[in-house]
Amino acid sequence: MEINTTAVPEGSPGLTTNNYSHNHHHLRSQSYNQHHHGILPSASILIIIIATISITILLAISLIIVMLRRIKSVKKYGSGKDISNINNTGGKSMAHGTISSNASPDVKSRCLYGPNLGCAPPSKFKGVQVFTYKELEKATDKFSEGNVIGKGGFGVVYKGVLSDGTVAAIKMLHRERKQRERSFRIEVDLLSRIHSPYLVEMLGYCADQHHRLLIFEFMPNGSLHHQLHASHKQQQPLNWGTRLRIALDCARALEFLHEHASPSVIHRDFKCSNILLDQNFRAKVTDFGLAKTGSEKINGQISTRILGTTGYLAPEYASTGKLTTKSDVYSYGVVLLELLTGRVPVDTKRPPGEHVLVSWALPRLTNREKIVQMVDPAIRGQYSKKDLIQVAAIAAVCVQTEADYRPLMIDVVQSLIPLVKNLSSVSSSASSRFQSHIVSPRC
Ligand SMILES: Nc1ncnc2c1ncn2[C@@H]1O[C@H](COP(=O)(O)OP(=O)(O)O)[C@@H](O)[C@H]1O
Ligand SMILES: [Mg+2]
Repeated sequence: MEINTTAVPEGSPGLTTNNYSHNHHHLRSQSYNQHHHGILPSASILIIIIATISITILLAISLIIVMLRRIKSVKKYGSGKDISNINNTGGKSMAHGTISSNASPDVKSRCLYGPNLGCAPPSKFKGVQVFTYKELEKATDKFSEGNVIGKGGFGVVYKGVLSDGTVAAIKMLHRERKQRERSFRIEVDLLSRIHSPYLVEMLGYCADQHHRLLIFEFMPNGSLHHQLHASHKQQQPLNWGTRLRIALDCARALEFLHEHASPSVIHRDFKCSNILLDQNFRAKVTDFGLAKTGSEKINGQISTRILGTTGYLAPEYASTGKLTTKSDVYSYGVVLLELLTGRVPVDTKRPPGEHVLVSWALPRLTNREKIVQMVDPAIRGQYSKKDLIQVAAIAAVCVQTEADYRPLMIDVVQSLIPLVKNLSSVSSSASSRFQSHIVSPRC
């Protein structure tokens, strides 16, 4: 340790007459003490020794207490990873302090994804191409009605075949929408820069005259919204295992956007219709038209117009417009509730008290008996109660009102990994059309 010595300057107050006489007196009493030193030498030495020993013991005890407390808190929250055992109030531990800069390892511990983190973009990826309007007209049979595969807030999406034979989804942005130019630029800028196996790949774009189109890889099983909520479902409902994998894929997508994209990205419109499913029912996130990047941050948050979708908006964002990554975490919690219950976020046709999914579900999520009653009847009997309670606990911490207490997406990923891993070991006996993707790692 460095010791500071302060020199007393000449003529400084330290050398006034008063001080001098005081010092003189002090010296005199010192010499008096020295004269009388031999009277009780052993008693003084004993007192000094006892005092020193007591101080040392006290210091050692407090050091041990501090260390024990630290070990205890590290055991409880320290990994900052597994949140599934934390109930609603316990979720307070999930504040910003648990940030980890590492990408979550894949279920099979094979994949670390993020910019410069090991996985290249999909091998078929050829870079973002620029298309003419004519080329896209040809690809979609002149944007025929029969090729429409989706309609969203910003445009109509067509299925098309590009000149090299690639099947693509082609999104034509509405001409009259004020936000069109901004949303087009954001998607092009962002998706040419960031690539992840958990985001729908942008193959190219078209900015021919007044036309604005975006070309994406085609996702054959459409949106999660369609799979969960379509009124006239021709296909089997998604099973428990598939739902868990979708939940993990989506958590990884948001983890990538929040933690590994640079600057970080807030999706701002995370919902079931913006989650698309590939041929193996693996999920990827799409629709970055409303996204905000971390470079727009002031004091850790972004103040913005309130845009997004009712039922998915975090309360603090809906009331003040203050946007953080925790707004996406809330929306993720709503999607998790949809996967669990099969219900839409807002349904005015339901009995009073059940219109808003979060308000209906929250008190039930922490009650072991009621959790079972709220599960989608289509997946009853497919899960272990332990897994169900863990997923419910994750949903509960994600949708809590206090944004700071919501978990980071990296923690959600870490909590879901063991549940999905477990599926792989027990699913060998399951006969389902989704079995193929149990053995299809992402990268
Ligand atoms: N790559 C794709 N593959 C398959 N279907 C898609 C694809 N992209 C969009 N869709 C369909 O179109 C819908 C709207 O697309 P989206 O990108 O969300 O547009 P919007 O910005 O208008 O909301 C989606 O919910 C989905 O049903
Ligand atoms: Mg959309």
